[in-house]
Amino acid sequence: MRILALLKRIWLLYFLRRLWNATTVFNFRYWQILKWGFSSREDTNYTYDLTEDNIRYLASTLALVLDQEYAAVWKYIEEIRSDRYLQNHVAQTVGKSPLGRFADRKALFGRRLGWYVAARVLKPKTVVETGVDKGLGSVLLCAALLRNRDEGFDGHYYGTDINPKAGYLLDGAYKEVGTILYGDSIESLRNLNEPIDLFINDSDHSSEYEYREYVTIRDRLHEKSIVLSDNADMCTALFRFSRETNRQFLFFKEVPADHWFPGAGIGFSFFSNTRVPEPKRHLAESATMLEV
Ligand SMILES: C[S@@+](CC[C@H](N)C(=O)[O-])C[C@H]1O[C@@H](n2cnc3c(N)ncnc32)[C@H](O)[C@@H]1O
Repeated sequence: MRILALLKRIWLLYFLRRLWNATTVFNFRYWQILKWGFSSREDTNYTYDLTEDNIRYLASTLALVLDQEYAAVWKYIEEIRSDRYLQNHVAQTVGKSPLGRFADRKALFGRRLGWYVAARVLKPKTVVETGVDKGLGSVLLCAALLRNRDEGFDGHYYGTDINPKAGYLLDGAYKEVGTILYGDSIESLRNLNEPIDLFINDSDHSSEYEYREYVTIRDRLHEKSIVLSDNADMCTALFRFSRETNRQFLFFKEVPADHWFPGAGIGFSFFSNTRVPEPKRHLAESATMLEV
């Protein structure tokens, strides 16, 4: 102990030990990067599972945002995680597509699980996702709409993308309830004149562009509409929009399981039904309870 205390006084040794301690927090990432380099084919829009605890936190956040019981949210999470038809569809379509050589066949939805639950709970007539890429969000949302349809609630998905090759996963049964609008997202949104029940921003990730998307659809939102941002870990556009429109804002941070990517998240913008007691009233109630 004495020797350690003495060594700690030597500036260079103390400095190196502190640096070593800090690097141990990150070094395991290099192992994950190497494994991923061999096992994945992706170079952008990475896919992964979330840790089990993180999925529970997501379910809890969704219960609050959607004003649902935790068990009801969990049921929908289990529903999509055990959807073999969707998993086979993704594996087979990636396998067949020429663009599939840059994608992984296993369908891992990460934070998109939250999008699915929102679409199942809200039973939206219109869902919009800006930025489609290969269409993983598209098929997941259309899977929710197909199940809603079986339960008597019709709805349609619109995805927007500037890339004419985007959205190859949206095929087969999923295409019955989904359409991709090609071109600049803001232009497509201007031409979409119906009320939007669920809106997901995931296109051009500059703050200014994201904010313009929200302003473009502002008049088509109603008090039950939910707006999600896939970019809220990087910019505050949805937070700003929520403050300006008196909506609540919450951010969920995802934690990927066994992947080097540190994770993104979901920004939620919504009107809340939950009334939080006034702090003073709350204290007064506690005091009364103590007296009893
Ligand atoms: C992160 S990816 C979308 C991922 C997708 N939402 C998913 O769930 O996998 C972003 C997409 O936005 C598209 N994009 C970028 N700028 C755009 C714009 N101005 N208008 C429409 N799409 C745009 C890109 O072509 C890309 O496919």
